[in-house]
Amino acid sequence: MSRFSGDTATAKTSQPPETVSRREAVGIDDISVYIPKLYLPVTGEFATSRGIDPAKLTRGIGIERMAVPDAHEDAATMAAMSLLELMRRSDLKPEDIGKIYVGTESAVDEAKALGTYVIGMLEQIYGAGSFQDCSTVEFKSACIGTTQALEALCYWVAAEDEGKVGIVIASDVAKYPLRSAGEYTQGAGSVSLLLKKNPRLIALEGIFGSFTRDENDFFRPMGATTAVVNGKHSNQCYLDAMQGAFDAFAAKAKRKGTIVPQDGECVTDFFSHLLFHIPYPRMVEYASAAIFEHYWQGLARWKEVETEIGAEPKAGDCESADQFLAAKSDYSRRFAKSKHFLDAFKSKVLDTTAFSRLVGNIYTGSIYLGLASLIEQERIKSGDRLCFGAYGSGCSALVFSGLVQPKFASVPKRDIFRRLDSRTLVPLADYERLHEGLKEKSIIAPSQEFALIEIDHQGYRHYGWMC
Ligand code: COA
Repeated sequence: MSRFSGDTATAKTSQPPETVSRREAVGIDDISVYIPKLYLPVTGEFATSRGIDPAKLTRGIGIERMAVPDAHEDAATMAAMSLLELMRRSDLKPEDIGKIYVGTESAVDEAKALGTYVIGMLEQIYGAGSFQDCSTVEFKSACIGTTQALEALCYWVAAEDEGKVGIVIASDVAKYPLRSAGEYTQGAGSVSLLLKKNPRLIALEGIFGSFTRDENDFFRPMGATTAVVNGKHSNQCYLDAMQGAFDAFAAKAKRKGTIVPQDGECVTDFFSHLLFHIPYPRMVEYASAAIFEHYWQGLARWKEVETEIGAEPKAGDCESADQFLAAKSDYSRRFAKSKHFLDAFKSKVLDTTAFSRLVGNIYTGSIYLGLASLIEQERIKSGDRLCFGAYGSGCSALVFSGLVQPKFASVPKRDIFRRLDSRTLVPLADYERLHEGLKEKSIIAPSQEFALIEIDHQGYRHYGWMC
């Protein structure tokens, strides 16, 4: 087998379990996903009305359908729905939960924490006051909020000594102006993660590599309902931040002796799968190409790459700095189309995007929708090391790793493909009215779910369980 197989075959497993077993492992015990029942296909009526070739959306962007929240849904109802499912799946009682951290950039209030609305809804099921011993806080940091929450909550879970668990909820409505370049990357949904000691699914290895820089790639000024996006710049910020966080992670993992690449190896060889933030599926391809190109260079396998796409351009061969940059960018595009890269991408990354293709962007939860995609497609096995690369505009990235645990297969599946298949197509005109907040009546009357019932004269939101 050639050395190249490091990133295409079974990942290396140097040292992992001991790192985790020194202390009690902390990580993800279960995961639940809530996606609205309405969807808009991006091909057909949408593509025609926007004058876009459908192939651009399905291939260039990687999207087939966008989840659309109904009139009674928002980030709070979706969060309550995914938490309720998680509690039912894992047989959790309110008194078992010590903290609920919510990652969102679709807050429904400028001051009140979204989690308090969620607790209010859950208490309609579990009884008034049942969550009073549980604290909640909102993490806002664009699409990385949930991962920041997860890191913070892991430290609490590790120190907790009364047997309580922590919950991290991601919930967002990804919304851009109608007819903008962001519109076809929209989506909505919520993911809840159960964090505890000795988790059944994934034990985190406690190594977080971070990168932060002040950027204007994507932001939403106070009062605005849609984000201001400098789209192409946001792609570049994502790549820069991911590389920075990856380097920080690799250095820490080496210092701790957890991942120590030998001659001819690099850090990506040690992962069975890499999960990146998924604003749209193609972005994950760009991110993987940048990371693999960076780490493979200088290794023996790079000679095989050069045989396929030629040698990298050198500054001395170019007439100007701009020409050199253009030649490098062209070379990276060739690398991204190379067989070597595409093999690694298919084996380690592509399967994380299966649900995102059918849901669109769910902002801070999208990386965990990627985890659900891997689990539901049975792409992970005990002992696999997963790499998570989260990104949030503004901008920051966080890279961390986790080990799939021996009991992971005992956690029941979630039937997500069937649920996505049974959604209702929303006509373009209704989608546009929902988007603009002009549709007061729900398209599908809420049933067996939480719903926004009223916003009163003070702006307080009233939610209820609809039988
Ligand atoms: N058939 C197939 N592919 C096509 C095509 C066609 N007819 N027309 C264009 N494409 C391809 C392009 O070649 C490009 O792929 P490439 O990079 O491999 O060349 C891809 O579709 C994207 O098209 P492009 O025109 O470059 O981008 P866009 O104007 O649609 O904008 C975003 C894309 C992501 C910048 C935009 O949707 C956006 O602003 N989104 C919100 C912000 C965001 O998600 N940022 C990501 C980082 S957080």
